[in-house]
Amino acid sequence: MTIRQMKNQSIKFKGIEVSFADNGRGKAVVFLHGFLGDKTVWNYYAKELSSSTTRVITIDLLGHGKTECLSYVHTMEEMAEAVYAVLKHLKLKKYYLIGHSMGGYVSLALAENYPDEIRGLCMFHSSAKADRDEKKKDRTRAIKVVKRNAKIFIDEAIPNLFNTTEKPNKQGITKAKKIALYTSKQGIVAALEGMRIRLDREIVLKFAPYPVLYIIGKEDNILPYKDLINQAKLSDNGRYELLDKVGHMGFFEAKKECLEILKGFIKGEV
Ligand code: MLT
Repeated sequence: MTIRQMKNQSIKFKGIEVSFADNGRGKAVVFLHGFLGDKTVWNYYAKELSSSTTRVITIDLLGHGKTECLSYVHTMEEMAEAVYAVLKHLKLKKYYLIGHSMGGYVSLALAENYPDEIRGLCMFHSSAKADRDEKKKDRTRAIKVVKRNAKIFIDEAIPNLFNTTEKPNKQGITKAKKIALYTSKQGIVAALEGMRIRLDREIVLKFAPYPVLYIIGKEDNILPYKDLINQAKLSDNGRYELLDKVGHMGFFEAKKECLEILKGFIKGEV
């Protein structure tokens, strides 16, 4: 069965539908998308990695994709709880977590509570730090814009996620915008609120008993690469891959390279 043919599945969590896809068998790898994304951003990876020995689970986070909103503030902890409900529904005992940006914040919130269940954590253009004051102010401004007109916000935010030092990645931007436009106004605002108040989780990284891999874009406009390299070095089990000419969307911008990195990580090579 191809990913395209695959039907979405869902569970009920606190009265709302949480949507996910589950493909393959064996070692479980859980992919969590970032802000304004959804589980389909991982379709290529789900298709390439799922097999008779690897099970790929992709989940729509609260207020994104086909997962409904739970409230007006989606904390990283609540998002992690919803993810955990899916993992328990699937009876997973151990799994890799691959989290893109906000998905990485959620992964850390989950890993904090269940370190023994994690086989490995990939922070895919993501950070363990809380927002600094300036960033918090940006979030508040963004919330105002979204409340007035979400499309204006999306039209501005999405191109900036890609490498802006080269000619625009039109295909990637179009694809990412299409997914983002599917996100409800409430979902966008609730995620911005949740990211704004998220906790610093560098301590979770520092004492991570499992391998940690940072995938970092040298041209990331959202999370400066030098800071992420320092974070990767915090943990004795931490490593990083720095991608040239890549912004914040490596899974679209350097699809094959990222696939090979993830394959190695899951095999225990990196
Ligand atoms: C994301 O891609 O998830 C967001 O850009 C993360 C953030 O705004 O901190």
